[in-house]
Amino acid sequence: MTTHSDALVFFGATGDLAYKKIFPALQAMVKRGHLNVPVVGVAKAGWNLDQLRARAHDSLEKHGGVDPTAFEKLIGLLRYVDGDYQDAATFTALRKALEDAHRPAHYLAIPPILFETVVGHLAESNCGRGARVIVEKPFGHDLASAQELNKVLLGAFDEGDVFRIDHYLGKRAVNNVLAFRFANTFVEAFWNRTYIESVQITMAEDFGVQGRGGFYDQTGTIRDVVQNHLFQVLSNLTMEPPVGFDSESVRDEKVKVLKAIPPIEEKNLVRGQFRGYRDENGVAKDSQTETFATLKLEINSWRWKGVPFYIRAGKSLPTTSTEIVSKFRKPPTLIPDSLLVENHLRLRLSPEVTIAMGMMALAPGEGLSLQTGEMVASHSPRADEMDAYERVLGAAMAGDSSLFAREDYVEEAWRIVEPVLKKNTPIYQYSPNTWGPDEVERVTPPGGWQNPIVGHEAPSVAGQAA
Ligand code: BG6
Repeated sequence: MTTHSDALVFFGATGDLAYKKIFPALQAMVKRGHLNVPVVGVAKAGWNLDQLRARAHDSLEKHGGVDPTAFEKLIGLLRYVDGDYQDAATFTALRKALEDAHRPAHYLAIPPILFETVVGHLAESNCGRGARVIVEKPFGHDLASAQELNKVLLGAFDEGDVFRIDHYLGKRAVNNVLAFRFANTFVEAFWNRTYIESVQITMAEDFGVQGRGGFYDQTGTIRDVVQNHLFQVLSNLTMEPPVGFDSESVRDEKVKVLKAIPPIEEKNLVRGQFRGYRDENGVAKDSQTETFATLKLEINSWRWKGVPFYIRAGKSLPTTSTEIVSKFRKPPTLIPDSLLVENHLRLRLSPEVTIAMGMMALAPGEGLSLQTGEMVASHSPRADEMDAYERVLGAAMAGDSSLFAREDYVEEAWRIVEPVLKKNTPIYQYSPNTWGPDEVERVTPPGGWQNPIVGHEAPSVAGQAA
């Protein structure tokens, strides 16, 4: 059934995620005319509806601004149920607040440890009848816990009614990778092992853990952004063309490409930690958690066999940007290798969206001297562009699964990273505002890492041959 949800319930209404992401997304949905059903916040805070409304106002003042008209409408839709998630009475009250809604969407913006309790009560209280359930990452902390969570959810809901949020799938720039590949005929001709020598993906953030030390120290970079966000980027980049653009055809191809990736080997991972991290609140003084990781993986498919894929992500790096660089093989040519510089395709996903083709041409002057110049198509997100959370919440309420991770996908992603996560590999310190520890050299693409630059200029490797 793809009927639109007729109510939205969000558990964890007084929490951090609601404050930073959910209220701004709800206001934006109202403003666009996409939300016109009751919105029920649930929490155990001893609050009343007026306090929740005040919290929503405060949240919007800090995150994106209050739009007076949309905000008035939003607080008109808002309801509040205060109660303990362990207590059946909370769910009786919720059912009452839902009135005659028969297709509610329950958004579990709460720690995964509470999922089982809440899902159990939803099922018993009739709040779960005809409902959808939306869950937040992290989806488990390893394969076994992800399987356990799947069991809990699928014990009460059909897979088609379960929406596992990975907000990267709500980013237009991430979906644009598919548009670039499948809307442009010429791309398919070179998008394979014959032409591409290596691929590197960098997700750099120039800030630390921003007060989330307690969460982060239990998580680390690989669980926080690699296993989910960057694997979604990787899947979009490498999957085969789906037979259709319906959600299952797309998700089938994503699972297929992950299945072709062997588990990451210890020798292909370097973990780092920025100096000062251990002084953060909630972080252990002897923490071995990574705030930076670089890893290499292979895709043993017909298209990609033999092409190394490098992923690098970290906090406290010199800039904030997510960028993909695919380097092309050298041509068979009379031009000596030493004169060839670089031929690449650069896809920048943030802060602005860029498609750049780095091509060699004769440098100005005399003699056979080459330089790489980029042909760039770029745009900055529009001010009124949908935020990722707005997009995924709207999609879940509409019953569109394509922007969500399927059960088998999540489990495949854990299969790839889990063995190396359990190995306690060494952790190397790095200074904030650098590109990670020196040991990164061990896991570096041929020709080196290409660091994302700020703005629209050409990348640092482009230059003139000697
Ligand atoms: C979150 C991580 O899922 O994604 C954060 O928990 C990270 O640590 C964030 O900073 C990055 O998201 P975005 O949308 O800012 O790129």
